[in-house]
Amino acid sequence: MKVTVVGAGAVGATCADNIARRELAHEVVLLDIKEGISEGKSLDMLQASTLLDCDIKLTGSTNDYEKTAGSDVVVITSGLPRKPGMTREDLIGINAGIVKGVTENILKYSPDAIFIIISNPMDTMTYLALKSSGLPKNRVIGLGGALDSARFKTYLSLALECSPNDLQASVIGGHGDTTMIPLTRLATKAGVPVSQFLDEETLKKVAADTMVGGATLTGLIGTSAWYAPGAAGAYMVEAIVRDQKRIIPSCVLLEGEYGQSDICLGVPVVLGRNGWEEIIDYKLTDEEQAAFNKSADAVRNMNGVLSTLNIGV
Ligand code: 2OP
Repeated sequence: MKVTVVGAGAVGATCADNIARRELAHEVVLLDIKEGISEGKSLDMLQASTLLDCDIKLTGSTNDYEKTAGSDVVVITSGLPRKPGMTREDLIGINAGIVKGVTENILKYSPDAIFIIISNPMDTMTYLALKSSGLPKNRVIGLGGALDSARFKTYLSLALECSPNDLQASVIGGHGDTTMIPLTRLATKAGVPVSQFLDEETLKKVAADTMVGGATLTGLIGTSAWYAPGAAGAYMVEAIVRDQKRIIPSCVLLEGEYGQSDICLGVPVVLGRNGWEEIIDYKLTDEEQAAFNKSADAVRNMNGVLSTLNIGV
């Protein structure tokens, strides 16, 4: 399998490094528009691989898309990360044109690729990549729920003082500070609902902390996080390249599912070799459905901004 990561910033480089260390592909290409950064970081990773007992072909490319030819999976991280005080949505004016251009360039050389979109605002960038490329809906998948669910599990594990590996917890809806929905009702510890171990007040705080998990890190670090986003990207790549059929909350096109249409939003999906293969119905409560509809309204408003940008959509 060949995987291309576009964007050699912190998230993209970390994603490529995770893919390499876990040998999720026989070849990884890291591409960036900035001179030398992809070549430098991929060579650094290659040198690390001699110490990590992993054996993979790693190459960097300064904006030469020919080197990405024949990619099976492409992870798009390019564009600006947010700074403290910014929302992910604030990035749309800069990142929309970048994501559209990158998608078009990749498709010239990898017409059969599956796309994982990380660039923010991710829900809208996923919708943009899908609509501007004309790709089948199962081959354009946004990374939000995988990362937000990891943060949800982290906060739950801290509150429960347990291993996060004993937890099942999902976040659906938009990948925004106010649009994501941590599903506390369905969260379990070793199969037991977490509500049996945590009171409602604690659960509400865990959910609230999850929703601003990205912003919290941006405030502490001064820029967007990268370890968990990069690892989440590799996690989704693994499900695809190994045809794992894992259920991972991901941003995909809805055509009536969860009561929404013509929008890309986070829902539980089966990820495998064909991209997303099935949407799982969690049978939301009325309260959860209302939150999902509110999330959809916010993302749809952001999608509407695309037509005001001079990027040809
Ligand atoms: C995050 O939440 C970058 O959107 C990503 O950290």
